Amino acid sequence: MRQFNFVDQLVMLADNSLKTLIGGYQTTQRKNPAESVEKPELTKAEQKHAAGLMRINHCGEVCAQALYQGQALTARLPDVRDKMEEAAKEENDHLAWCSHRLTELDSHVSFLNPFWYAGSFAIGAVAGAVGDKWSLGFVAETEHQVVRHLESHLEKLPENDESSRAILEQMKEDEQHHATTALDAGGAELPEPIKKTMTLMSKVMTKTVYYV
Ligand SMILES: [Fe+2]
Ligand SMILES: [Fe+2]
Repeated sequence: MRQFNFVDQLVMLADNSLKTLIGGYQTTQRKNPAESVEKPELTKAEQKHAAGLMRINHCGEVCAQALYQGQALTARLPDVRDKMEEAAKEENDHLAWCSHRLTELDSHVSFLNPFWYAGSFAIGAVAGAVGDKWSLGFVAETEHQVVRHLESHLEKLPENDESSRAILEQMKEDEQHHATTALDAGGAELPEPIKKTMTLMSKVMTKTVYYV
C-alpha cells in the first residue's frame, strides 16, 4: 500500500474538510429516507422550528465527520479501519439528507460549521493519539449521546413533519450501530468528567446553531 508523506496528508485533509463543509463528499448512495414519505404541509412557524432542529443535526454530522477524520489521522485501528471508514460514509449520507431537508425548509446550514468542524477534528485527533481503546470509546460515547439527542428531536419536531422524522429515524438506527461497532472493536468506557464535558459542549452547539 502507498505510504503518504506529510504534504500528501495535508492536501487530503484540506480536501476532506472542504468537502464536508461545502459538499461533494462520498456517500453510500442509499436512498434518502424522506423520499418514501409524503411532503408535509407546515406553517411558517413550524417550518422555522424544524429548520432550527435540522440545522443542529446537520452540524452534528459535520462534527461526526471531523471526529472520524481527526481520528483516522492519528489512530492505528489495524482491524477496524474499514468499518470506521464505512461509518464515516454513512455520516456523509446523514450530512446530505439533513442538508437537503434544510433546503426544502427554505433554510441554510449553520454559519458556525467551520468552527465546530475544527474543534471536533482536534478532539478526534487527540483521542486517536491517546490510544485506540480511548478513541473507540470516544466514538461510542459520542454516538450514544447523539442517539439520545435524536430521540429528543423526534419529540420536538412539528407533529406532521414526517420528512424530517424519517431522516432522523434512519440516522438514529445508524448511530446506534456505529456505537456498537466501536464498542465491539474494544472501545473503553470514558471517565465521567469527560462524558460531562462532551455533554456540555453539545449543549453549547445546540443552543447556538438552532439560530445561526
Ligand atoms: Fe450521523
Ligand atoms: Fe454515527
